[in-house]
Amino acid sequence: MKLLWCVLVLAALVLAEENEGSSESSESQEVPELPLAEECDEELCKLPDCRCSSTEIPGGLLPRDTPQFVTVTFDDGVNVININTYREVLDGRQNSNGCPAGATFYVSHEYTNYRIVNELYNNGYEIALHSISHKIPQDWWATATYGELKEEIADQRTQMAHFANIPFESINGVRLPFLQLAGNTSFQVMADHDLLYDCSWPTNTFTDPGLWPYTLDYASEQDCMIPPCPTASIPKPWVLPMVSWKDLNDFPCAMADSCFYTPDMEDEEAWFQFIVSNFERHYLGNRAPFGFYVHEWYLSANPAVKSAFIRFLNLINSLPDVFMVNSSEVIDWVKNPVPVTEYRAKPCRTWSAAACPVSLCGNVPSEHNQMTYWLEACNVCPRVYPWTGNPLGL
Ligand SMILES: *[C@@H]1O[C@H](CO)[C@@H](O)[C@H](O)[C@H]1NC(C)=O
Ligand SMILES: *[C@@H]1O[C@H](CO)[C@@H](O)[C@H](O)[C@H]1NC(C)=O
Ligand SMILES: [Zn+2]
Repeated sequence: MKLLWCVLVLAALVLAEENEGSSESSESQEVPELPLAEECDEELCKLPDCRCSSTEIPGGLLPRDTPQFVTVTFDDGVNVININTYREVLDGRQNSNGCPAGATFYVSHEYTNYRIVNELYNNGYEIALHSISHKIPQDWWATATYGELKEEIADQRTQMAHFANIPFESINGVRLPFLQLAGNTSFQVMADHDLLYDCSWPTNTFTDPGLWPYTLDYASEQDCMIPPCPTASIPKPWVLPMVSWKDLNDFPCAMADSCFYTPDMEDEEAWFQFIVSNFERHYLGNRAPFGFYVHEWYLSANPAVKSAFIRFLNLINSLPDVFMVNSSEVIDWVKNPVPVTEYRAKPCRTWSAAACPVSLCGNVPSEHNQMTYWLEACNVCPRVYPWTGNPLGL
């Protein structure tokens, strides 16, 4: 009996090994096939943990009773080059209820200065994930396996918490490089690693009225701009859709800095009007969260755009029913929607500052290329430059 068991196990091992040899995507084979998502049934899919993809306001609220959320986000490495812009446009801002305004940073690892990530966290901004390598080409992300995305995204959360010395649980969000989804796979990684939301999926179809955040328990109706998009049923993670802006010729743009027909780059007034007209599609419509998604270089290279952006923030910070918040906060509200009067009166969020025992790490050798890196971290210096497969640089 025992012998037979041994033989069976051996046979299974041999088979498994053959499988591995015969296919390059061995990692995806470890992951069980997911059920195809079915058409969403609003009777079965209910808040706080399930929501059909829809332009309906959560909780059945009327637009005038719905807080208008504005999510300002910045992507890529955070360092001494871009921190000055972040300080200039964000620091000290409050919403009209006197609570600190939020923003979200989708941080990629390479060239990131973790002392500055720590500063951003301590100033009340949300730190989210944008991969360790941000590697090119974009196609790589479309076909990345479960194991590869686990190393790029789930391991980055551990890396970020370690080097910026911020709470692991405060890191909840994901934006994939180039907004390139990988079908079901990144959402599977998120579900398995308790990551709350993805903000990588643009919609050009559901902009007026705009698409509200939803879950993937059931089939999404969202248009797939950068395929492949998920079609499996994947409970838990939320999709925070990137509702596209419209440029001056009505072409959609997922990020403010990817619009094609823009106002003159030196015309602050025209830029202000451009931003406001995009905002009004939300504010005067179904109040789906309005995203201002941008890269820092676009503002620093175009001072008139930066001034227009600051004017816009000043405007929304004075409106009683508009709230500039971090992206997790939008998901929190959607899970438990309350009318704007109740939301306004809530106590402000609080957080405690995270210490940064600074280490300046010069000439850190890298194992993924021939370079040496300079790194500033709120933790001991790594032995090698941290990278996928070795996120702590041990
Ligand atoms: C996602 O999962 C569904 C259900 O298993 C499958 O039919 C679909 O092909 C998967 N999508 C991709 C891009 O792999
Ligand atoms: C984002 O906002 C939520 C809700 O106010 C708050 O609980 C959380 O601490 C904020 N996250 C960060 C990282 O600032
Ligand atoms: Zn990026």
